[in-house]
Amino acid sequence: MNQRNRLELRKFVAPEFVCGQGALRLAGRYAHNLGMRRVLLVTDAGVRAAGWADAVGESLARAEVSFTIFDSVTPNPRSSEVMAGAEVYRSEDCNGIVAVGGGSPMDCAKGIGVVSVSGRDILAFEGVDRVSELPPPLVCVPTTAGSSADLSPFAIIRDEMGRRKVAIISKALVPDISLLDPEPLTTMPRELTVDTGIDALSHAIEAYVSNASSPITDLHALEAIRLTSTALPAVIRSPDDLNLRFSTLLASLHAGLAFSNASLGAAHAMSHALGGVYDLAHGRCNALLLEDVIEANYEAASTRYDRIGAIIGREQDEWMAPAEVVASFIRSLGVAGTLSSLGVTGDMIPALAERAYVDPCLATNPSDLSREEIEEIYERAL
Ligand SMILES: [Fe+2]
Repeated sequence: MNQRNRLELRKFVAPEFVCGQGALRLAGRYAHNLGMRRVLLVTDAGVRAAGWADAVGESLARAEVSFTIFDSVTPNPRSSEVMAGAEVYRSEDCNGIVAVGGGSPMDCAKGIGVVSVSGRDILAFEGVDRVSELPPPLVCVPTTAGSSADLSPFAIIRDEMGRRKVAIISKALVPDISLLDPEPLTTMPRELTVDTGIDALSHAIEAYVSNASSPITDLHALEAIRLTSTALPAVIRSPDDLNLRFSTLLASLHAGLAFSNASLGAAHAMSHALGGVYDLAHGRCNALLLEDVIEANYEAASTRYDRIGAIIGREQDEWMAPAEVVASFIRSLGVAGTLSSLGVTGDMIPALAERAYVDPCLATNPSDLSREEIEEIYERAL
């Protein structure tokens, strides 16, 4: 695994994106250029209360694009929310979608697009390349720096009946444009800044060690790790600093470009299972799993993990194992506890491992983990 074949065929997909202060205010112009005359503006209550949905709405109004707001989206968006949003899209005769928020509204928006052209249940599209009809145009305005749903071909939807997270992966889910503006990040509470920042770091680490990595994704993954390791601790101390917020947004952008093309690994497969069963915060699950996943994977990608450890731990006097470096970085951000402190119980581990084992993210994990080995990682993280 450390001796990769650099000549292996790889492709790289990325949406158009605009980054910088004021990018949010371009939403109307881009919606208009994409032919939208009536938009479903997908957001959530928190983002709406912070004023960012209204700011995007003003931009749409200036471009004479009418819109309806759909804000019935919760963290770990449920399939029922997608279906409800698609019903509003249909009844309001919309012809385009603008998503404003973190990963949840953006994933929900992608699902609404898929349902609106197909008329089918969103859960029917689980898996890779199952979306055959092109969804309506989608503009994304991320208000967190972590999910990269504004760039990725992924939508993660919670099947509430089956208590599992369903991964829908298709090039058709790559948004038409992402407007990366640091201003909306300033209203994120500390915990969300930390959790989403660690999600970005997890994307970069898993993409860098992924079996589907390439010289192009490596470039983005390493830059994301470097940026996160400096900007995330600093932004927690200075949450209103726009330059620092922008650095975390760039970290998320680089991580998104990396994992959109190299995919992820065991931490995400296991985190999706936890989110499905317990409805837990995605970034926090990654934070509590990363150390044990790195330990389990280390032998299969030691050179790459050593490089990650050297970047994050560059100020340490003595060499530390990469798993320890990452764990200590995460603890330095104030993340404490274990999976059991989130309410996870040992009796659920076999069911969690069962779900993680069939998650598409596991396919690119550097080591070939068995169900039993996944159970052992959960046990260590408990
Ligand atoms: Fe993630």
